[in-house]
Amino acid sequence: MTDAYTRFTRSAPGGALAKQLGLPRPSKLPRRADRPEPVLGPVVVLGGSAGADEIARLLLHWGADVRRRFDELRKIGSVIVVADEINSPSDLGPLVLPLGSAMRSLAPGARVITLSRPARGEDPAQDAARGGVEGFLRSLAHEMRGGATANGVLVEDGVKLDAPGVIGALRFFLSARSAFVTGQLLTVSTDAGSRTEDDTLPLAGRTALVTGAARGIGAAIARTLAADGAKLVVLDVPGAGTELARLANELRAVPIQLDVTSAGAGERLVGVLRERGLTLDVIVLNAGITRDKLLANMTADRWDPVLAVNITSQITLTEALIEAGDVLGERPRVVSLASTSGIAGNRGQTNYAASKAGVIAFVDALAGRLEPLGGTANAVAPGFIETEMTARMPALTREVARRVNSLQQGGLPIDVAETISFLSSDEAGGIRGETLRVCGQNMVGK
Ligand code: NAI
Repeated sequence: MTDAYTRFTRSAPGGALAKQLGLPRPSKLPRRADRPEPVLGPVVVLGGSAGADEIARLLLHWGADVRRRFDELRKIGSVIVVADEINSPSDLGPLVLPLGSAMRSLAPGARVITLSRPARGEDPAQDAARGGVEGFLRSLAHEMRGGATANGVLVEDGVKLDAPGVIGALRFFLSARSAFVTGQLLTVSTDAGSRTEDDTLPLAGRTALVTGAARGIGAAIARTLAADGAKLVVLDVPGAGTELARLANELRAVPIQLDVTSAGAGERLVGVLRERGLTLDVIVLNAGITRDKLLANMTADRWDPVLAVNITSQITLTEALIEAGDVLGERPRVVSLASTSGIAGNRGQTNYAASKAGVIAFVDALAGRLEPLGGTANAVAPGFIETEMTARMPALTREVARRVNSLQQGGLPIDVAETISFLSSDEAGGIRGETLRVCGQNMVGK
């Protein structure tokens, strides 16, 4: 689904005109179907720490063409900057400057990833260096070209660099599955989680519920989780029953027609799961609506439904599922849909931003609640994604919204779905209470 302007700039005359006028020329983003292998090589691992050696060994084990210097490489697929042992800002230059001379040799769709530790409020010089990695990474992502991305993994002190969550995050950022994720730092806070046995089916044996699955991002999530091996339960309002049934047929999924805001929705969901003998391992809270108006024109009939669908239903559904005691599998994973509007705010969206900022805080608290069960909760915050929801925006606003990110284009529902699949996997067990943006490094917020 390429927009008209992007198609125009990819034609020879359109590209030349856009270049002449200094207009955006969005690159094609390679996705999993274009590039199924997990690592684009050759991959250069920078850094002299034991952690860097460990990462190089790991990549060799994955069969990657691994180098420790740029030397005369003409094309570079991936670069991993291992900065786990930096102690002062002066350590940064020698580590990252060699990358400068290699920037023009990065292949289309290349990946740069930093691996570092978050500041911990103890050692001023060390914290300054650690914080510096984040600033470096976010700026570098703005300088990437040709559909290449730059992301960082922040590994809490005490968590090893070969922890499942670190390896999972590394693999996700290196792969084409993270096509629309750039300029982001994801924290791995524990050693929990386990290595995926079969990389091609990371969700094999798991049962996943997706709310709001009948269309848009929800349908893409259901299809992606199913392709990754999960058995699906798909839920949507009775009014979307036909599309839901079609999707359920396609995926051999269990359909549930339910308005998540209706009285007793959580108990009804639990009832259906018990009837069918199902336990949920993955819960994707995707159902969401917008009712935009400036606050000056905001009325309760626009405010209340947005809060009810986008956040209150998430609280009541998860509460009912946890309370029931017999409908959650082992190591449950909850992934909720936030939005960049919930991070930066957006004119005309006080209701929506309140609900989505609520989601971000909610998953953090829920992660604590699920910890005793070996579970996690995280959120994804999409930026501009090409769906029916965004197709309804006024044309000019829509055109601006889809360009104001480092990749100069809107994302696709599959980009959100791929990120959710990663956060639902066993590997992601050490990632909890995080909100990962899928926004092409949208200029809003941090
Ligand atoms: P959409 O409007 O295309 O689909 C939403 C789905 O949720 C529909 O199938 C709808 O029937 C269902 N739904 C709505 N109310 C429901 C209820 N009370 N009970 C059960 N199901 C209900 O929306 P889209 O674009 O696919 O968005 C999905 C999620 O992603 C939403 O949470 C949205 O806020 C979020 N998001 C979307 C962005 C975008 O650019 N499209 C950007 C940021 C976040």
